[in-house]
Amino acid sequence: MERALRVARRVERLTARRPNLRPSSLGLPRPWRRYSTQIASWPTYGVASQLTLDRSRQSVRYNHTAVETGSEAINQSLGEEIQQHRSPKHSFQSQDGLVKWDTKMLTLLRRAADDSPIPHLTLSLLWLRDACPCTHCVDPDSGQKSFSTTDLPDYPAVEHAELMDSGELKVVWANDPLSDAGSHTSVFPTEMVRSWQEKDTQVPYKSASQGPERILWDRAEYEALLADGRCRISYQDWLHNHEAFRAAFGDLNKTGLIFVTGVPQEKGQVQRVASRIGAQQYTIYGWTWDVKSKPRAENVAYTSQFLGLHQDLMYWDPIPELQLLHCQSNDCEGGESLFSHGVRAAYELKKAYPEHYDVLTRVESFFGYHKRGHNFARAHPTIIADKNNTISETRWSPPFQESFRLRSDEQGDEDLRRWKAAAAQFKAIAESPSNIVEMKLKPGDCVIFNNRQILHGRRQFSQSQTGKGSRWLEGTYIAPAVYERAVRGLLG
Ligand SMILES: [Fe+2]
Ligand SMILES: [Zn+2]
Repeated sequence: MERALRVARRVERLTARRPNLRPSSLGLPRPWRRYSTQIASWPTYGVASQLTLDRSRQSVRYNHTAVETGSEAINQSLGEEIQQHRSPKHSFQSQDGLVKWDTKMLTLLRRAADDSPIPHLTLSLLWLRDACPCTHCVDPDSGQKSFSTTDLPDYPAVEHAELMDSGELKVVWANDPLSDAGSHTSVFPTEMVRSWQEKDTQVPYKSASQGPERILWDRAEYEALLADGRCRISYQDWLHNHEAFRAAFGDLNKTGLIFVTGVPQEKGQVQRVASRIGAQQYTIYGWTWDVKSKPRAENVAYTSQFLGLHQDLMYWDPIPELQLLHCQSNDCEGGESLFSHGVRAAYELKKAYPEHYDVLTRVESFFGYHKRGHNFARAHPTIIADKNNTISETRWSPPFQESFRLRSDEQGDEDLRRWKAAAAQFKAIAESPSNIVEMKLKPGDCVIFNNRQILHGRRQFSQSQTGKGSRWLEGTYIAPAVYERAVRGLLG
């Protein structure tokens, strides 16, 4: 108790006015540290306490003592109190480095092979949880994320973290909502940890053209247009009736979504429909591609799962302007196509939540495709608007989103948290039933939509009870320059 006596002497000249106050209500003590025992004093209140931390540092035992003026000894025990104590800082030292974390950030200090220290790297915990590369979080076949950043808690809790012998960073998360509130282990490979230390890169985006007199429809408005005979044209008229074709193309330019009906059920017909507008755009998927369910698919579109609203090829340059999907067969249960106007959702967001809108025009998310020898990545803010806040396009594709590249400090963490809240709101607006046009494509239907403005998705489907059902769409893209030339030629 030698140190306790020193505490007592130190506070001797102070009056013990409030000896019954419990230290937990007194605020932070002035600690003296000695192994697992701390002697703490609250001189202002004349209280000294002996604090004993348990080995895991999770709880602390207080032995409180009041100190009276003139006393040489601690003379009045206030009793014992054990408090569960969540230390605001945790750390783990291994041979390979030190990892520290609190409720928001994780800091790494590691030694390189030549024993030179690698500088501190501070990462947002939200960012880190979002970047988990495990097979539960990223589909090993398609390389696509299986969850949306908006599904994560603001402050993912860390149970344990350490740098491994091999240089990987291991983080065990507690109460993980994507693991039934159990724990979830992320192992970040050495190269990934190294790449975080590289400087942030800014990838510019192209500003897009604005169609005149756009109709930013919701479900009711779009259905009214269809009922009026708009936004729909027969295959024969599309190919051979110039006035009808021009009118339908005008509707495509205004609404971003039209249907060509009665297209022969033959492979390659989608190219014929596209060629009326102009040349197709070649991408990693080829000149045309088939959307069919298949095992070990390289793209979530090639499965039978529900496919949330998204835009295609956000990692490609230029992002395709038009997407055409020609339905060859669709006699499965489900598999309805879903469309929602991204620009309308962005305007709705701007009106109702201006601060969320600001974040989505400012903070960039990253999209990539790194499979089968390809390596494409691009960054875009979710909403593309000009200086006058006229919104031209959106960039929404959760399955192709990759790790954010943010400043490695609290500002970066703050940006990501703000982006998440804003994105959740944008998603809720876009997915609201009053904004979604739902259509089960029939064989012979070919939908054409503006991929830079319209979000698309698909309900889950399964084979019919006879087991014979199939769903097969053949698709292609048209690039912005080709589309713009057609707009000038036909409508300009
Ligand atoms: Fe798609
Ligand atoms: Zn994971």
